[in-house]
Amino acid sequence: MNQFVANRLVAAQPVATGAAGFVIDSERPADEKARERLLDRAMGPERRRKTCERLRAGRLPADGLALVARDALGRIIGTVRLWHVQAAGVQALMLGPLAVDPWWQGHGVGGALMREALARASARGHGAVILVGDAPYYARFGFSPRLTAALDLPGPVDRARFLALELKPGALDGARGCLRASGAKAAFARVSRRPALTMPARRAS
Ligand SMILES: CC(C)(COP(=O)(O)OP(=O)(O)OC[C@H]1O[C@@H](n2cnc3c(N)ncnc32)[C@H](O)[C@@H]1OP(=O)(O)O)[C@@H](O)C(=O)NCCC(=O)NCCS
Repeated sequence: MNQFVANRLVAAQPVATGAAGFVIDSERPADEKARERLLDRAMGPERRRKTCERLRAGRLPADGLALVARDALGRIIGTVRLWHVQAAGVQALMLGPLAVDPWWQGHGVGGALMREALARASARGHGAVILVGDAPYYARFGFSPRLTAALDLPGPVDRARFLALELKPGALDGARGCLRASGAKAAFARVSRRPALTMPARRAS
């Protein structure tokens, strides 16, 4: 059994979000194409050139921490993933990308994905989450650039957008230097010098 399938077997049940008409659910292998299309719609092709892609290329998301939002017909309207990273031996999670279908933006989908992802990460014992994103948006979940002052990324980053949240106080103590990917490697990931072409490969179940 591959890891992605194993994750599904222990995945939590979908979380209903009341009157809003969508649920937060674990990502499934069959979601891959719809998720890619959503990311293209929400973020454009430049998404593949982001520095954070270098920490995701050829890796699998952290167990149980690849989530989607589905509408009433089961269609994917939002996505978020978290990835294992480490710096100076301190383990953390890197969040991203978070994206919501443009038609659904402003209806609470992004917030619901964030809250569920952070709750599940906390429940699994993770200590900290790092991301690159708009500080005014992520501040509402407790993210701050203060916690990343000693950290770097393997590429250019706007430090005002380089944010972190400690799920356990002091979880990032001692973390310094460049973040490195530390998650499980995806089988069949293509080797390439271009991060855009080394997205985690989906394995057939
Ligand atoms: C950013 C994103 C994920 C937010 O998802 P969403 O479902 O629209 O967000 P929610 O409905 O939960 O929250 C809406 C609130 O966030 C605010 N918001 C949305 N995007 C924001 C941004 N980039 N910066 C600051 N605030 C933002 C809205 O103004 C609104 O504020 P209010 O609650 O005070 O009215 C979504 O707009 C998106 O996919 N954008 C394109 C992809 C992207 O940029 N992703 C990375 C984010 S840095």
